[in-house]
Amino acid sequence: MDFILYEVNGAVGTITINREKALNALNSQVLDELNATLDAVDLNTVRCLILTGAGEKSFVAGADIGEMSTLTKAEGEAFGKKGNDVFRKLETFPIPVIAAVNGFALGGGCEISMSCDIRICSENAMFGQPEVGLGITPGFGGTQRLARLVGAGMAKQMIYTARNIKADEAYRIGLVNQIVKAEVNEAGEVTVSAKDALMAAANKMAEGIAKQAPIAVRASKKAINDGLQVNMDEAIVIEEKLFGSCFETEDQKAGMGNFLEKDKEKKLKVVPFKNC
Ligand code: CAA
Repeated sequence: MDFILYEVNGAVGTITINREKALNALNSQVLDELNATLDAVDLNTVRCLILTGAGEKSFVAGADIGEMSTLTKAEGEAFGKKGNDVFRKLETFPIPVIAAVNGFALGGGCEISMSCDIRICSENAMFGQPEVGLGITPGFGGTQRLARLVGAGMAKQMIYTARNIKADEAYRIGLVNQIVKAEVNEAGEVTVSAKDALMAAANKMAEGIAKQAPIAVRASKKAINDGLQVNMDEAIVIEEKLFGSCFETEDQKAGMGNFLEKDKEKKLKVVPFKNC
């Protein structure tokens, strides 16, 4: 792989988009490599993913403008589909994905972060959908996911004005869950960089997720994602079925058994995903 790094630490996998010279912009090769990386994640051992961008300055500065500049209508549509297919794979990935947004998350960068379950960002993060300034619409799900996340009014304002927003505004409108600051000593010197602090926070959250019963975490993700696509009557049936699917699993027996035995020391005994 030229543009994707993947490392596993315990039950947490970290995918880094590694095209720093172009601020991690997404060209076709990056999208293909990301797709292949997701296919290769070992779901028997990894229980949570973190997605980030290489360096301190940029998470992902969008789809590659150079590559897009000469596309025909049909090629543009195909490029949109390529991105959408990978982002949808990320969104429906069986385990949770945390976007650790370090710096620019513009266009396709904002869109890929929105395909993740949770977004946390560094204080220098900047989010936006600047596409209309380039003469195109957002094309990797931005018109759909931004409106669902922050409401149609705010999404329309951001998209129509092409205005980028800083981390605090992204937090205020609910686009990110948490802003992580660099650590500074009394003399005002940075002791932990914004990126390192962000990755530490992302890992802490991921490890907290990975400690829970994996069958239940996976079923919760599916219930939320699938339920949001349908009306409430259908949504609660989706929940009932996934709730029911957790019973008789080793996770459920061990989790409830430990509680009833009042054994707080016992860790949940969890089964590999392939046995779900
Ligand atoms: N595509 C291709 N290359 C990009 C890029 C992108 N989206 N964003 C940055 N780069 C490249 C620059 O061309 C530059 O390359 P060179 O050194 O070879 O010239 C390098 O990254 C560094 O960028 P800058 O010199 O511009 O850095 P800066 O600090 O001055 O500005 C920035 C940073 C504000 C993010 C600016 O680079 C920028 O505005 N980038 C484009 C952001 C954007 O419009 N994204 C949306 C793309 S469209 C899209 O994503 C469509 C979709 O929905 C699918």
